[in-house]
Amino acid sequence: MKRDFIRDILENSRQYENREVVLGGWIRSLRDSKAFAFMDLSDGSSFTGVQVVLERSRLPEYDSVVRYQVGAAVVVRGVVLLTPDAKQPLEIHAAAVELEGSSTPDYPLQKKRHTVEFLRQIAYLRPRTNLFSAVFRVRSETAYAIHQFFHDRGFVYVHTPIITASDCEGAGETFRITTLDVENPPRTAEEKVDWSRDFFGIGANLTVSGQLEGETFAQAFGKIYTFGPTFRAENSNTARHAAEFWMIEPEIAFADLSDDMALAWDMVQYIVRHVLQQCAAEIAFLNQFVDQTLLCRLEALSSSACQQVTYTDAVALLEGRGHTFQYPVAWGRDLQTEHERYLTEEVFHGPVFVTDYPKEIKSFYMRMNADQKTVAAMDLLVPGVGEIIGGSQREERLDVLRFRMQECGLDEADYAWYVNLRRWGSTRHAGFGLGFERMVMYLTGVSNIRDVIPYPRTAGSAPY
Ligand code: 4AD
Ligand code: MG
Repeated sequence: MKRDFIRDILENSRQYENREVVLGGWIRSLRDSKAFAFMDLSDGSSFTGVQVVLERSRLPEYDSVVRYQVGAAVVVRGVVLLTPDAKQPLEIHAAAVELEGSSTPDYPLQKKRHTVEFLRQIAYLRPRTNLFSAVFRVRSETAYAIHQFFHDRGFVYVHTPIITASDCEGAGETFRITTLDVENPPRTAEEKVDWSRDFFGIGANLTVSGQLEGETFAQAFGKIYTFGPTFRAENSNTARHAAEFWMIEPEIAFADLSDDMALAWDMVQYIVRHVLQQCAAEIAFLNQFVDQTLLCRLEALSSSACQQVTYTDAVALLEGRGHTFQYPVAWGRDLQTEHERYLTEEVFHGPVFVTDYPKEIKSFYMRMNADQKTVAAMDLLVPGVGEIIGGSQREERLDVLRFRMQECGLDEADYAWYVNLRRWGSTRHAGFGLGFERMVMYLTGVSNIRDVIPYPRTAGSAPY
């Protein structure tokens, strides 16, 4: 079927003036006032729909059309009329309306406001609402902006494996993959599960990060990035943790922690500017209905320098505030979400990089600082969300890396290829991971990660 799209008509309305168009869309609402009826039609091509005007005297099928239910799919043939004095810039005067797929009076998305909790239960219908139409359009544009950012800067896009035998973060939060009979797996002489008889001949899991493999490609291409699904069996039921999420992981050779932060900030600003430009209608809607500080916050970010504080100074600042936190603050303990949010929201009033964390609370691959106590790590914290980026300079010195692996209880044999990278042309290098959903939360003001993922997977929940 030859179809016109609302987006094109709205963007080039002069060209379409008085022309006949064919639209395929879904009825958002339908009002019958005897001689005329008004149909709010959405075809998915743009955040806003169009008003279709039906005139009883001109449309033979008028009486059946006004009985169509909200949610029904229709094909409308009609003429574009510009309406510069009305609320909407144009309308479609229908010459023919065909029913493509009917709906029923119990269609769950009648024209009224629904809670996000209710909409989560009908995740297969929620993209048809204004809120989720805005969120998922922003999500799509954000992905595009990220690829464009790295591509324009000469980064090579690498597809790191989703199935892996290593645990990059060493946190033991991996999902095991197996074809063994879970009721009765083969066992070794020591009565342990015999993974050597599993599909891959080794215990395998879903990746928690593509970083280690990404590092190997950075030592060939100089600058690379990954953008792929990531899986973590974190049993934390929070508004910002998902078991399946997407991560963007750039890795740059001949670079240190400050190069890494400069790249991260450059990328975040680029994404924000792109979304402000490409999703103006969506952001305006979200600013009105979800978070009234959104537009201000994004505009401020797109033109400001980022702040920076060391972990040690951040802990001192938090201690000095005399604020009571649920989890106590002390040097050597990891920052909890409440601490991160207090820092970015109450102390720095904007995004801030926290750097140089104690080695005990960070991963084995982070570069040891001269003080022998902290590592060259950075987290980017933003208001409303907390950590959206975690990164570091990597330990490129063979002896220090081996020492750290031992300290962290890792078996060097499991990471021989990673260690070997330090034997042959090892360079200073650094990288980070951006949590894609956390970025989308920041860009939309949506406060629960379940509402920026089409079909969220969280502890205890994986419907669809
Ligand atoms: O801080 P993380 O654990 O860092 C890494 O995985 C490094 N290997 C990245 C690197 O240096 N290449 O995770 C990176 C980001 C976090 O800052 C957060 O935004 C997001 O990934 N993230 C999650 N997002 C949603 N749900 C979860 N369970 C997440 N865990 C981490
Ligand atoms: Mg982190």
